[in-house]
Amino acid sequence: MVARFTSRAAWQAVASATIPRSLAQTRGFASTLQREEKRTAIITGASRGIGKSIALRLARDGYDLCINDVEANKQGIDDVVSQVKSAGVNAIGAVGDVSDLSQVEAVIQKSVKKLGPLNTMIANAGIAQVKPLLDLTTEDFERMFRINVFGVQNCYSAAARQIISQGNATAEAPCKMIAAASIVAFKPFALLSHYSASKWAVRGLTQAYAMEMAEHHITVNSYAPGIVGTAMWDLIDEELGKKRGNDLGQVIKKGETIKKYTDELIALGRVSVPEDVAKLVSFLASHDSDYVTGQCQVVDGGIIFT
Ligand SMILES: NC(=O)c1ccc[n+]([C@@H]2O[C@H](COP(=O)([O-])OP(=O)(O)OC[C@H]3O[C@@H](n4cnc5c(N)ncnc54)[C@H](O)[C@@H]3O)[C@@H](O)[C@H]2O)c1
Repeated sequence: MVARFTSRAAWQAVASATIPRSLAQTRGFASTLQREEKRTAIITGASRGIGKSIALRLARDGYDLCINDVEANKQGIDDVVSQVKSAGVNAIGAVGDVSDLSQVEAVIQKSVKKLGPLNTMIANAGIAQVKPLLDLTTEDFERMFRINVFGVQNCYSAAARQIISQGNATAEAPCKMIAAASIVAFKPFALLSHYSASKWAVRGLTQAYAMEMAEHHITVNSYAPGIVGTAMWDLIDEELGKKRGNDLGQVIKKGETIKKYTDELIALGRVSVPEDVAKLVSFLASHDSDYVTGQCQVVDGGIIFT
């Protein structure tokens, strides 16, 4: 027979009888700060754009941070590190290419040595390329998957091994792995085909990791931004504009394509800013999302409805 609980009090009585007391206490509404140990996070591709915004937000949340990017963006890494430090938390920079597992492992080792045990890995780094499917070369496809998919796999696998070896992830305080997907993980954009496929792969990998990491008390989720005004969308705007210009036989000015997409696609009627995404990642990194795993959470102002 199915039991029906007519009041909240009756439900709570059953819940507290079936959940061990320590869990019942921590699974209440204690704020992160009230019960929290010092937490550390690594953010890849964080010298600019969405990654930088996530870093500034997690600094506000009290995390010590390891800021990663490629060598070419070392200046950006240093700038973000000093901005994070001025928010009152500790931060280090760590150059490394996420497509190379040994470099990701070195970033993690540096972070653990300087900041302490790892709690949160944010695999944010990614690239985009605008090209018609039939013009794509094997090299185009490989580069996209090396960074966007192997990069996430390298971050997830190396971070999971580190967290498991530390033994600091518990049912009451799970560790977190989070990756950048995209709305194109739900519906591809034409001319962004291999980028879209790479983000579908991130979504799938995240679901698989969520299943296998649950027993290790690690939750695994991804975030799916829509159209965010960063260097990445500058490139997409320019390249899509050229293609539309060629088709229409006219010059499409910089910014016109992103405006067209905004007007036609985004329910809330404005392009996203990186801070929109950082707010969601802050939630996914916090204990407020401890019961969320395997999700690809859209943050797009209303383009894709899941
Ligand atoms: N901008 C958007 O509209 C949008 C939408 C959906 C998803 N995303 C995703 O969000 C993430 C961040 O995007 P963004 O808009 O801030 O882009 P961005 O180009 O401004 O920043 C990406 C950063 O990743 C770094 N990076 C690239 N390859 C790397 C590598 N191999 N190793 C380490 N770092 C590397 C770059 O140097 C750069 O600093 C990406 O994964 C992107 O695909 C962006």
